[in-house]
Amino acid sequence: MSHPLEQLRAEALREIADAPDAQSLEALRVRCLGRSGSISAWGEQMKTLAKEEKPVVGKLLNEVRNAVTAAIETRAQQFRSQKETGALSKIDISLPGRASGYSGYSGYSGYPTVGYSGYASATNGRASLHPLTQMLERAIEIFRRMGFALANGPDIEDEWHCFDALNTPPEHPARNEQDTFYLPDGRLLRTHTSTVQIRTMQSAPPPIRVIAPGAAYRRDEVDATHSAQFHQIEGLYVDENVSVADLKGTLEFFMRELFGADTAVQFRPHYFPFTEPSLEVYVKSKALKKGEQWIEVCGCGIVHPAVFEAVDKARGDKAYDPEKWTGYAFGLGMDRLAMILFDIPDIRFFAQNDLRFLRQFA
Ligand code: PHE
Repeated sequence: MSHPLEQLRAEALREIADAPDAQSLEALRVRCLGRSGSISAWGEQMKTLAKEEKPVVGKLLNEVRNAVTAAIETRAQQFRSQKETGALSKIDISLPGRASGYSGYSGYSGYPTVGYSGYASATNGRASLHPLTQMLERAIEIFRRMGFALANGPDIEDEWHCFDALNTPPEHPARNEQDTFYLPDGRLLRTHTSTVQIRTMQSAPPPIRVIAPGAAYRRDEVDATHSAQFHQIEGLYVDENVSVADLKGTLEFFMRELFGADTAVQFRPHYFPFTEPSLEVYVKSKALKKGEQWIEVCGCGIVHPAVFEAVDKARGDKAYDPEKWTGYAFGLGMDRLAMILFDIPDIRFFAQNDLRFLRQFA
């Protein structure tokens, strides 16, 4: 005759196979394996057995417990997959899909996004990059090859970072309320990204080689080439013996990489309070739609010693001693560069989020 434990196993396995649903299976599990279940009760009985019987029955008890546990798990898995299949059966996989066009996502990777949405919804519902972001990615890639790192700073600034530290006197017209957006507390929307030059030098000693892309704001009359919010790529290089030749070489290389090898680059004298000498950069290329016309794309120059002195004063050290360190800085007009690159006639298109415009760059 078989051992009562073997009978118990046969019975339990049959009941498990017959269990109609997950709940009755769970009740069965408690009845067999629960604390006062039939199999657990046998564990208690072991104590009362004769010494010779213990190993034989102990081994059998283990086998029974494992078999019942495994059978319950298998049956439970069957119930789970039945449930999933049941849920899926309600989905009609022959229905055509819905386009996933989404726009307005602005949390783009490390550096600041431009325009009002970094991504634009494209044809077929696929997302694509805003033309300004595409232009920025190309620019960053070129500057990275020349060893520039990325820097950034806030759009809301104080007067010191935007003007004073940049050697711009209190009576300078750029500081006028007609030209600059001031907040009630006296702070302002930065009128250029040159603020990041100051912030970068405050936070680290030379040598410095950074670019800082971002938005800038001016109370300009809005037209096809002016917008209250526009974008710049600031550049700053500080080292020993930096010259205008270094500046010219860097910007010429950049323009030719961006617009093509036959791009002509011209430097014209200009004035900025924070550089001396100061220059404006113009480009012209047969490949460009504008043909033979010179287009202004950048302001630049050799960092004025007064800027280094203001930084040192704020730092409280002599890290930027103008006797030892020299540098160049530039501010590229990103919107202008993108307009040239993609032949866009009006700066306002960048911010209007008109899909007929954006789809052309998908
Ligand atoms: N900040 C200047 C502007 O916005 C451009 C510039 C940057 C000029 C750096 C010189 C050096 O017009």
